[in-house]
Amino acid sequence: MNPTASDVTPTPASRLRCINCGNVADHAEQDFRCPNCGDLFEVFYPRWDASRRAGASGPDSQSLKQLWRDRKTALAPADTSGVWRFRELLPALKPGYEPITLREGNTPLFDLPRCARSAGVDALQAKHQGMNPTASFKDTGMTTAASFARQENFHWVACASTGNTSASMAAYAARGGMRSLVLIPEGKISWGKLSQSLDYGAVTCQLRTDFDGCVRVLNDLVRRKPIYLLNSVNPYRLEGQKTAAIELLEQLSWDSPDHIIVPGGNLGNSSALGKALIEMKDLGLISRLPKLSVIQAEGANPFFRSIREHGGKQLIPTEADTLATAIRIGNPASWKKAQRVLEATQGTVEQVSEVEIAIAKAEIGSDGVGCEPASAVTLAGLKKLVRQGFVKKNEGIILVLTGHVLKDPEFTLKFHRGDLFTGSVHEKEAATMVDQQRAPFVLDANTESVIRVLDEFDAKKST
Ligand code: F0G
Repeated sequence: MNPTASDVTPTPASRLRCINCGNVADHAEQDFRCPNCGDLFEVFYPRWDASRRAGASGPDSQSLKQLWRDRKTALAPADTSGVWRFRELLPALKPGYEPITLREGNTPLFDLPRCARSAGVDALQAKHQGMNPTASFKDTGMTTAASFARQENFHWVACASTGNTSASMAAYAARGGMRSLVLIPEGKISWGKLSQSLDYGAVTCQLRTDFDGCVRVLNDLVRRKPIYLLNSVNPYRLEGQKTAAIELLEQLSWDSPDHIIVPGGNLGNSSALGKALIEMKDLGLISRLPKLSVIQAEGANPFFRSIREHGGKQLIPTEADTLATAIRIGNPASWKKAQRVLEATQGTVEQVSEVEIAIAKAEIGSDGVGCEPASAVTLAGLKKLVRQGFVKKNEGIILVLTGHVLKDPEFTLKFHRGDLFTGSVHEKEAATMVDQQRAPFVLDANTESVIRVLDEFDAKKST
């Protein structure tokens, strides 16, 4: 007989703990900041800690693996969700409350043979979180946090966003019967993302500021209005997001890769994935920790500078600027959590240029996979880490692709037409992009002109 959740282990009771002063709480204020010191909370599971003290390793890892495998063929909404399928490692909703789910998670792992060649490694795989319901990794955290918002009877949820969080929040709020308020920087997010929040029914405010300015307004707002904050300072978001790492390890038959490489913006995702890795190691689900490394754009690199210039002890906010608008963030909220993940997993941090990002994005596209610009920093960063010898050519490497290629078609079209960097300081360096550019041909409607294009293409390929 197949085990059920209750045969294996009771769902762990979870609590909140401040990452700075250790203050433990069962309920956070609306800004999700520790009332003692103002730092961030994380979710922890006291029963696991208690069983560790008693010499046991918490939930039985073999039974959990079996249970999660069995749920893949189950039909209940929580089992078909690639997040709630792992609910033994998540905070539990109160009895009688169902998760708000769009069947998030369940994302594929792809081989990237062309990208592997270009990075100079034997093999390379991508965990494509852009294959979530609203086309970014945000859905895995939104299903948990939005479900907690509904359980606490909030009518309004809100976030500041560079576009993907807002798209995801708007969708989950709509599914959960809540109203949503989106604060986004005016003119600095892609149209695809903006259009999603409009379609899902969010009240959308384009503020004349940047992402960090939107965060400031939102933090003030939630202190004054009964609004549930859905930015990644909300620790229930990170609990959902951490399941991407659990699902990844399951896809790898619980055999840890050597490296996991993620983009860094507000640093919630790297914190969440790292938390999962550490918990999986503690629970005996995996036997060794992969190195988790974070890549930032040169124009939005406060974490890179924090680690390189200040040993990860402090973070000095910067004014951010990059065409990878999803990670155009100068004051990342979760930098301390991410710093601890790098330390625990022995990972590193790198920065990459605008042109390196654009080339890497086209290369990921040429493997038939594609991603949005922010996700492509992972491949650009990998190339640097290989050159530096931090990543060896025969190691197991996973890139986490965070957003779908259709999130930012304007970037892609400009790249292929050759005008992405026209008039910018990157124009000269952009000459290195021609090999990847595939501008569309505009032709008269006759077969001869199409054949001419084919012949020219073949002739160019054979030279
Ligand atoms: N990749 C994409 C596609 C993103 O949308 C984001 C963040 C990141 C990477 C960086 O992840 O912030 O957890 O380090 N987007 C946020 C948003 C900030 O508002 O959509 P992070």
